[in-house]
Amino acid sequence: MLKSFMKHILVVDDSLVIRETLKKFFESNNYKVSTVEDGHTFYNFIESNIPDIIILDKMLPDDDGFNILYKMKLNAKYNSIPVIMFTTQDQYENEITGLKLGAECFLSKDIKLEELKLWVDRLIAKQEKIVSTKNNLKKLSLEIEKKESLLYEKAIELKKTNEKLIKLSYDLIMVLLKTIEVKDVYTKNHSENVSNLSLIIASYIGFTPKKLNDVKIAGYLHDIGKIGISETILNYPNKLDTQSRRIIENHPILGADIIKSVDSLSHLASFVRQHHENFDGSGYPDKLIGEEISIEGRILRIADFFDALSTDRVYRPAYSVEETLNMMKGKKGIYFDPEILETFFKIIQKGS
Ligand SMILES: [Fe+2]
Ligand SMILES: [Fe+2]
Repeated sequence: MLKSFMKHILVVDDSLVIRETLKKFFESNNYKVSTVEDGHTFYNFIESNIPDIIILDKMLPDDDGFNILYKMKLNAKYNSIPVIMFTTQDQYENEITGLKLGAECFLSKDIKLEELKLWVDRLIAKQEKIVSTKNNLKKLSLEIEKKESLLYEKAIELKKTNEKLIKLSYDLIMVLLKTIEVKDVYTKNHSENVSNLSLIIASYIGFTPKKLNDVKIAGYLHDIGKIGISETILNYPNKLDTQSRRIIENHPILGADIIKSVDSLSHLASFVRQHHENFDGSGYPDKLIGEEISIEGRILRIADFFDALSTDRVYRPAYSVEETLNMMKGKKGIYFDPEILETFFKIIQKGS
């Protein structure tokens, strides 16, 4: 067998007979065997050699086997080397102490060499198994670390792609809004005003940042369904007939359907659908009552009404803020959620 593949046994014993006997026996069994006779030589030896196993005499001329064992177990460089304590029969009472200190076993010097070889083989195999398990675990944890970092990179990439998609969705929505403004000149700035006003009301109520953002976007998008209504109806200067009113009253449904089709915005569809619902159930398209209408829908209703009435329309000039507020007061609990309306009045009073 090549020397580099041989298992290396270190025998630490002051008895020349024992050292020579063990050396001869194990070398004839294809082991590499080193021997030292005392503690001093032992420490010098292990400075530059790491044996696979140590057979250690309890009593040495200059040191105690337990002391050597204790020091080895404290040192990370040596503490995994298996140690067989080799003793005479009368030292056997120390077995427990030796085992506690980390010896693998306590064997009598009277042991048959073949039996000692069995112990040596078994302990070396056990140690190899531990080392291989440790290496596998290390390999596995490195692989996990690598995979984790790959996953992390992928997550960042995905987040960036997602952000780009959201931005693209918003850009597309803005293009649609501009298209509505071209079709219906009087709604110019209306979407932005409703968005800002809804945001102020929602922040006064105490919405979370995520919900505030939702209200802001829903405000921008609330009339997006008008994209599906003809310009003739949108810009008709007189009172609309029943059929045309029905068409125009369809815009919350059209808007919600458009928004539903954009993944990152679909959760806002119901708010848009509800921005013409009245608190008493007289609104459209679903005639929802009270808290059946989402709080976002109820906020949008107030912001939309205020901006629509206080700005010029094709069919009438703008009402003053005072006139608009008076009209809204008259619709408290009818069109509008009374509590949110009161909040809105407080905001207006503070602002004026
Ligand atoms: Fe609307
Ligand atoms: Fe509107």
